[in-house]
Amino acid sequence: MNTNKRLGMGLVGPGFIAAHHLDAVRRLGDVDVIAIAGSSDDSARRKAKELKVARSYGRYQDLVQDPAVDVIHNTTPNHLHFAVTMAALGAGKHVISDKPLAMTVEEARQLRDAAVKAGVAHVVTFNYRGNPLVQHARAMIARAEIGAPTFVQGHYLQDWMTDPHVYSWRSDPDKGGASSALGDIGSHWCDLAEHVAGLRIQSVLADLTTVVPVRYSGGESAEAFAQTVAGGGIRHEIHSEDLATVLLRFENGAKGCFTAAQVLPGHKNDLRLEVNGRAASLQWRQEHQNELWLGHAARPSELIVKDPSILAGDARRFAHLPAGHQESWSDAFFNVIADAYDWVREGGAPAAKPAPTATFDDGYRSHRVIDAILKSHAAGGAWQTVANP
Ligand SMILES: NC(=O)c1ccc[n+]([C@@H]2O[C@H](COP(=O)([O-])OP(=O)(O)OC[C@H]3O[C@@H](n4cnc5c(N)ncnc54)[C@H](O)[C@@H]3O)[C@@H](O)[C@H]2O)c1
Repeated sequence: MNTNKRLGMGLVGPGFIAAHHLDAVRRLGDVDVIAIAGSSDDSARRKAKELKVARSYGRYQDLVQDPAVDVIHNTTPNHLHFAVTMAALGAGKHVISDKPLAMTVEEARQLRDAAVKAGVAHVVTFNYRGNPLVQHARAMIARAEIGAPTFVQGHYLQDWMTDPHVYSWRSDPDKGGASSALGDIGSHWCDLAEHVAGLRIQSVLADLTTVVPVRYSGGESAEAFAQTVAGGGIRHEIHSEDLATVLLRFENGAKGCFTAAQVLPGHKNDLRLEVNGRAASLQWRQEHQNELWLGHAARPSELIVKDPSILAGDARRFAHLPAGHQESWSDAFFNVIADAYDWVREGGAPAAKPAPTATFDDGYRSHRVIDAILKSHAAGGAWQTVANP
């Protein structure tokens, strides 16, 4: 591929997260936002105007055939991921899909296989990998600076679904999948834990709860992080989990545990990951993402503040501002998108994949981990091995 050529981007599913994909792509400077596709001609036109995109399509099938588009971003609700991504791959486009990759393990496997066969770049936006201090922690662990990990723990907690009058497609298994909080945010935590610790989750023991078993909508799906309650009287029985606690066994013998929930008041986007090694501990909190805690047993613990001059590995190129200048959620998102486009410029060649980039293979793995968690709960809380491909 001519690496100087301007690239064309198209997006399917112009909702909450789509605006952040567009922001990141616009920040690259050498990629043109060509078009978006929505659920109808009218809504696509309206959204295109709002998002300042010149071209709109009412059918994603037409967008993926647009010759000016090199890369398709798939930000549709989960139940459309498979069809949209397959159509994009069939048209020979590179694909950046939001998580979860698909609805089921089998769909995810098919997408992984199809992407590898198509020979294009295939990326899943596990965006927390794009934070400088996440990459710094990963480099420290890889260099054995905290010793062998013995415990990997944390949580991903939100509260935007606390009110029963918030109803989202995420609670409908036909649209969101069999899992709700786990697929939506537990998937981020598990991916981050494996990525940072450099270890794979081998087996899981889960206890899942539906704290809010009945929700009400006005017929509309609430946007993620909806602050205002739409109200309305349509009653929905909810069977998927909004609270999950999971014990973990990792492949090196390390143990772990995490909680994922979207109904815990006061927790906004509270992702915390802690890796305890034999020599030291590391803790990163998304809501304080410019700091990394380094815990010691026999001397005072330290707080590493983001400072490009002291960062290791991929962390340094992920920091765009000097020390004391706060980097944010959208900067980390940009880093993930920038690496994805570097890979696109290399034609998606496997050897050119940037190390922090999550691929469809990682998306497929994420489905197998979540599937094992659901099976563990269904078996009454029995240890369940994560399936190998
Ligand atoms: N990486 C992250 O941190 C993150 C954050 C939020 C959402 N997500 C993921 O992004 C995806 C979208 O989530 P969201 O919160 O933006 O949802 P959303 O409901 O806000 O947006 C989805 C959009 O898709 C549109 N749509 C529906 N049917 C369509 C069709 N047939 N063709 C084209 N567009 C169609 C909807 O009208 C809506 O605009 C989900 O898979 C979710 O898991 C990821």
